[in-house]
Amino acid sequence: MNIEVRYLSKSGNTAKVAEAIATALNVTAKPISEQVAPDTDILFLGGAVYAFEIDDELKAFIRNLDGVKAVAVFSTTAVVKSAYSHIKPLLEKKGIKVIPTDFHCRGEFKFMRKGRPNSDDLAKARQFALEVTASYN
Ligand SMILES: Cc1cc2nc3c(=O)[nH]c(=O)nc-3n(C[C@H](O)[C@H](O)[C@H](O)COP(=O)(O)O)c2cc1C
Repeated sequence: MNIEVRYLSKSGNTAKVAEAIATALNVTAKPISEQVAPDTDILFLGGAVYAFEIDDELKAFIRNLDGVKAVAVFSTTAVVKSAYSHIKPLLEKKGIKVIPTDFHCRGEFKFMRKGRPNSDDLAKARQFALEVTASYN
């Protein structure tokens, strides 16, 4: 199974989750500036919410995504539930299958959510990665 991990992370929180997921799956986490292989079975795609939105670069990345069979979404946010509700419709608009379980944890922002993601969050992210790949056929 071909697995890729991509993320957009402005302050490093989502990158930590991406690294945890990639480590669990023995692959390399890369920023969205790096192209995804056209025969990817599962793309783990991570982002965050900034001023109630996902970043325009992440939207453009999804618009240009091609040849990916399914996407598993992960995100970090300080306040809102997750970035899943922003990312999922963009993928579906492209006809790309979205794995219904996403991973989300808190991410530090100014005085909020100090130390997040923490080691517990990252352990849960690793678990998420293993569960998604184990249940995907
Ligand atoms: C400019 C800016 C705006 C943000 N706006 C929101 C927001 O509207 N809602 C929210 O829940 N978190 C907000 N956050 C917090 C981020 O979503 C959170 O810190 C996230 O973990 C950042 O991920 P990153 O370190 O991968 O960039 C904001 C952070 C920044 C820097």
